[in-house]
Amino acid sequence: MTMKLENVVPFGRSLDEYRKMFALSQCELGLNILGVADGPASFNAELSALGGRVTSIDPIYAFQAPQIKAQFENVLGKIMAQVEATPDDWVWSYHGSADGLRANRIRVTDTFVEDFAMRRDSGCYIAGELPSLPFADRQFDLALCSHFLFLYSEHFSLEFHWASICEMLRIANEVRIFPLLTLMLEKSPYLATIWQRLAQQGYSVEIRRVEYQLQRGGNEMLVVSRMADG
Ligand SMILES: C[S@@+](CC[C@H](N)C(=O)[O-])C[C@H]1O[C@@H](n2cnc3c(N)ncnc32)[C@H](O)[C@@H]1O
Repeated sequence: MTMKLENVVPFGRSLDEYRKMFALSQCELGLNILGVADGPASFNAELSALGGRVTSIDPIYAFQAPQIKAQFENVLGKIMAQVEATPDDWVWSYHGSADGLRANRIRVTDTFVEDFAMRRDSGCYIAGELPSLPFADRQFDLALCSHFLFLYSEHFSLEFHWASICEMLRIANEVRIFPLLTLMLEKSPYLATIWQRLAQQGYSVEIRRVEYQLQRGGNEMLVVSRMADG
């Protein structure tokens, strides 16, 4: 077993990690993007600073920046202790070491907190949660969901996953989800059923290998899109 987490934790990743997790090309970074369950990721802050169009949605955006930072600080030690206790479960090619991971997560959270404190009311950070999102049909080109769906398969049911993915497909032309592993480093038990249902409904479904890997074996994303005439 690699990790025990009672709740979904506010741990965030950077723009560079999002680029690699979702194999985002320079051209795709210019799309109208929704980050679902973005939490304290600095993806929105960093890409917006470069002129990108990103909206993030997460239930923690109901809190103020200092409260989110405090939540992160509360879980950081516990998570790092679990990571350090399971060294074989992690691939260190990106972060270098557990200390590198800790430093990167702190840097990301600081970048997020600073941006969130400034732009919380600008409409680019929205408090809301799956499986029901307050957006119009096809409002976004691309919806990304990192480290929430599939990862927390023990905490959320198949039907929650299905409703959430259908909702993301309602509001975006394409949906990408990373990783496909659970916290136990096993492929999510929901993946096959979700794949089958999506294919039955006529979506194009693909598992794509990506260059980012931290959880050992966690280097694949799910890509779902409408067929051209859909
Ligand atoms: C581990 S963090 C991942 C943050 C970010 N996606 C990243 O990879 O850096 C998981 C996030 O899921 C959010 N979350 C929990 N329940 C949710 C729900 N029902 N809908 C959307 N987000 C949710 C949490 O608030 C938390 O910020």
